[in-house]
Amino acid sequence: GITRYYDFNVTMANVTRLCSSKSIVTVNGQFPGPELVAREGDRVVVRVTNHAQHNISLHWHGIRQLRTGWADGPAYITQCPIQTGQSYVYNFTVVGQRGTLWWHAHISWLRATVYGPIVILPKLGVPYPFPAPYKEVPVIFGEWWQADTEVVIKQALQTGGGPNVSDAHTINGLPGPLYNCSAKDTYKLKVKPGKTYMLRLINAALNDELFFSIANHSLTVVEVDAVYVKPFTVDTLLIAPGQTTNVLLTAKPFYPGANYYMSAAPYSTTRPGTFDNTTVAGILEYEYPDAPSSAPSFNKALPLYKPTLPGFNDTDFVGNFTAKLRSLATAQYPAAVPKTVDKKFFFTVGLGTHPCPANTTCQGPTNTTQFAASVNNVSFALPTRALLHSHFTGLSSGVYSSDFPVAPLTPFNYTGTPPNNTNVANGTKLMVIPYGTNVELVMQGTSILGIESHPLHLHGFNFFVVGQGYGNYDPVNDPAKFNLVDPVERNTVGVPAGGWVAIRFLADNPGVWFMHCHLEVHTTWGLRMAWLVLDGSLPHQKLLPPPSDLPKC
Ligand code: C2O
Repeated sequence: GITRYYDFNVTMANVTRLCSSKSIVTVNGQFPGPELVAREGDRVVVRVTNHAQHNISLHWHGIRQLRTGWADGPAYITQCPIQTGQSYVYNFTVVGQRGTLWWHAHISWLRATVYGPIVILPKLGVPYPFPAPYKEVPVIFGEWWQADTEVVIKQALQTGGGPNVSDAHTINGLPGPLYNCSAKDTYKLKVKPGKTYMLRLINAALNDELFFSIANHSLTVVEVDAVYVKPFTVDTLLIAPGQTTNVLLTAKPFYPGANYYMSAAPYSTTRPGTFDNTTVAGILEYEYPDAPSSAPSFNKALPLYKPTLPGFNDTDFVGNFTAKLRSLATAQYPAAVPKTVDKKFFFTVGLGTHPCPANTTCQGPTNTTQFAASVNNVSFALPTRALLHSHFTGLSSGVYSSDFPVAPLTPFNYTGTPPNNTNVANGTKLMVIPYGTNVELVMQGTSILGIESHPLHLHGFNFFVVGQGYGNYDPVNDPAKFNLVDPVERNTVGVPAGGWVAIRFLADNPGVWFMHCHLEVHTTWGLRMAWLVLDGSLPHQKLLPPPSDLPKC
């Protein structure tokens, strides 16, 4: 591989959407941010210089960071933030991955505006395991607030309630024609009849899983989270925050004389998001074959078709869609799923409550409670010093403890009537495992405060999704149904609403690895934890030493 150098300057920029302007944090003044391109095997060196009045750190979501946890990016987990006027060089090699990933800010809610695509091409001369597309296009979903997102989250934390819902969803930063004052900010994908396009879909939204569909066209899924899958064709797909999906879109063979909406709308069992004027839409436009230059005006009078999206709470659709995802599992792209397990873990993930602090009125589920979210009843508190450095230097006392519970302390009926014990405890606890452990982790959604799907993201690893189901996980009968042949391999998985998911991974990457719900509001409430994978005994099984410019807290 070669080395690719990037300069990322974190700067403020004025951006206007929905007829109002605000100053946002950006990389190089761009929104969405610049595309990072590499080939499998390349080294990537990104110099990040912070010119903004916000502390920042950047995360390369889904990049394995083998032995280079220092470059992973989550603030206070693997590094202290890059302060105003400082810079930090992220230096990592792309090993054994090809496809679409993305990068984003990993501190507070700055990822609302600080994100961009990562395109990993296969090694030179290695083709895709599907016909080569005519063109490849990144399509990033996001959310837009007219208020400053830092203010939105601060307000929510102070009141102990939920944050304001975003004012728009976006495609490549653009809300589209169904929002007020937004027609000129519409993403347009121009296609030629008969050609096949690969859309690199990325869900960078803060708080919404999204359905996506293009009217009168089908989409063939070929890759998720930078791992090839057995291709399958759908009209609509689901993509959770953090996830990426490559789809092939074949344009109609002849000029159709019509335009088509490409739309995304939320999947949420707790609040509506039906297809209406709050839905982001881009437009698929056909280039008129004989007169390409006159096409824009010609197209104006054309009929415009809208797709039909599932209902906002269509959990059956979600279950059917996710069941279709299978690893390619060929000789060239094997599914290296651990066949045996060294350690089994059972984590409950879900929302709960804290009592409201004295002399405060909270806007949680009741006015005497505030929202909290937890894993095994631990609501993870961010430390004030970075965990990875504390571990590396042996100075962990007062920063974290190593007693993360392997299972909930008091089991209950997770998907039945909510138990009385809805209090959770704050803590900065790590789950420590030896190098080379084959891990099985069952994540059980709880219905303590309503049934929701949680997209759980694990840093530093891909994992195999060996099983999932609704209701309570049954440790006696469910494992017999696990798929150990071709389970999908990914870095972010939805714990089904009112159900569970089982994953397996080999802990072959020493370091401290964050795991959290990629719904930003749930992360903020504490639905997060961290694994500490110890060094192995051989030299290539050890965490590399920190770079000299690692930011200090
Ligand atoms: Cu994309 Cu820790 O996140």
